[in-house]
Amino acid sequence: MALVGPPPLLDSNPFAAVFGDLREERSAAVPFPPGDTRFSLVRTKRFAEDPLPLLLEGYERYGPIFTLRLFHSNVVFMLGPAANHYITVSHASNFTWRESHFRDLIGLMGDGLLTIDGDFHRRSRLAMLPGFHHERIAASVDVMVGETTRALDRLAPGDRIDLYAWTRRLALRIAMRALFGLDPDGAVARFLDAAGLFEQALSFYASNYALRMLRGPYTPWARMQRAARSLDRLIYSEISSRRGTGERGEDILSLLLDAHDEDGSTLTDLQIRDEVMTLMFAGHDTTTSTVAFMFYELARHPQIVARLLAEQDAQLADGRPTAAQLMSGELAELELVFDETLRKYPPAWVGPRRSIDSFEFAGHTVPARAFVNYSSWASHHLPKVFPEPSEFRPERFTPDAKAALPKGAYVPFGGGSRTCIGMRFGQLEIRTIAMLLLARFTLSLPDDFRLEIRQMPTISPKDGLPVIVHPRTA
Ligand code: HEM
Repeated sequence: MALVGPPPLLDSNPFAAVFGDLREERSAAVPFPPGDTRFSLVRTKRFAEDPLPLLLEGYERYGPIFTLRLFHSNVVFMLGPAANHYITVSHASNFTWRESHFRDLIGLMGDGLLTIDGDFHRRSRLAMLPGFHHERIAASVDVMVGETTRALDRLAPGDRIDLYAWTRRLALRIAMRALFGLDPDGAVARFLDAAGLFEQALSFYASNYALRMLRGPYTPWARMQRAARSLDRLIYSEISSRRGTGERGEDILSLLLDAHDEDGSTLTDLQIRDEVMTLMFAGHDTTTSTVAFMFYELARHPQIVARLLAEQDAQLADGRPTAAQLMSGELAELELVFDETLRKYPPAWVGPRRSIDSFEFAGHTVPARAFVNYSSWASHHLPKVFPEPSEFRPERFTPDAKAALPKGAYVPFGGGSRTCIGMRFGQLEIRTIAMLLLARFTLSLPDDFRLEIRQMPTISPKDGLPVIVHPRTA
């Protein structure tokens, strides 16, 4: 593992970054793809609050590649199967993540796997991969089942809960224990509301673009930094205790503590902190949204719930899944629902990049140093690829139908060298939570609930997901 990380972003001052972007845009050697390129606060606000319709309108008007001016800069969107494949697989080396328009995530996560590029990214990923091998993930089943059972034991028919908040707490406990061997009830973690701190830190990314540029006390940035420093205490105390005692486990923190280069140099505490923070964020936020969206759709489709329960009755002994059933995903109806949930609501809805060299796609040029995004969410809503995309139809993902999808059509976990490293872990976790929850309870939505979606920076239900808990239907 190359233990020398990337240099800090030259333009970490947000105003300098904006001027730098404008300068680079003005000096672009080739034109941007057609689109809505005049400055518009209305469009910027619409994109921040409800990007999906805006992207689908862009696709209708301009085709699979177009430009939108968002806040101060032109942003190129590339949508559809060919575009997704181009950015994530065939031309991935022409894009950086670090300098994309999500670069301010570095403020929370530092230089973890998500925000680094090139050789350092490749070597960091290689060092962490053993933590995601099949046997390691299989070893997490007990933690997932134990934590989910504990959380379910606290529910009773008649309760009204926010399923989104409930799942965030659960998913964080699972991530802490299974990924890092961190005890959520230990001396430091017990006094920290990690779920609340993440909520507070991530709310920065839901705030208005202009406010996000401010620094100093009482700004969204200061609030995010306060939450990050509290989470840091938890991570650094575990790093120092493990370094002190030499205690190691099968977890990713142990891998990071022992990672070393040919010359024997090791990762600094800061580098380890950045990887742990990245995995903690990516490892709980996406799964939380997926569980919430899945149960939102199930509450609206009792006939699908009936199929899931019939499948459980036929295949689970004593109503409990075995570790092998959880690992294999052999409950076919549940897998269809899972795939359709990630089609309609892929939590990591946008893949932010910046081009290195200028390039051509679908007959249009894109300058070097342009912000370029792919979007699973918009690509999964193209009617030519997924007819009547706003309908929730798990049967779209029967094995034959899935195999017939064009390459790059379905990308909830991204693709290529940046494919989600936690994919199998996340799949196992969501399956576990969904199976155990369905085996005990049926959830309904309050009559007046209307789903609104926010991006923060993943998509999730805007005001959480209020549900009413009922006994499992017969
Ligand atoms: C339903 C669950 C999940 C979904 C839908 C999801 C989705 C994604 C997507 C789309 C990307 C690529 C983003 C891009 O191209 O810019 C990604 C990357 C990543 N994910 Fe996930 N993820 C999930 C769960 C997890 C879990 C459980 C972990 C950790 C345990 C995790 C850790 C990461 C990391 C570290 C990256 C960066 C990988 C790299 O750049 O090499 N994710 N994820």
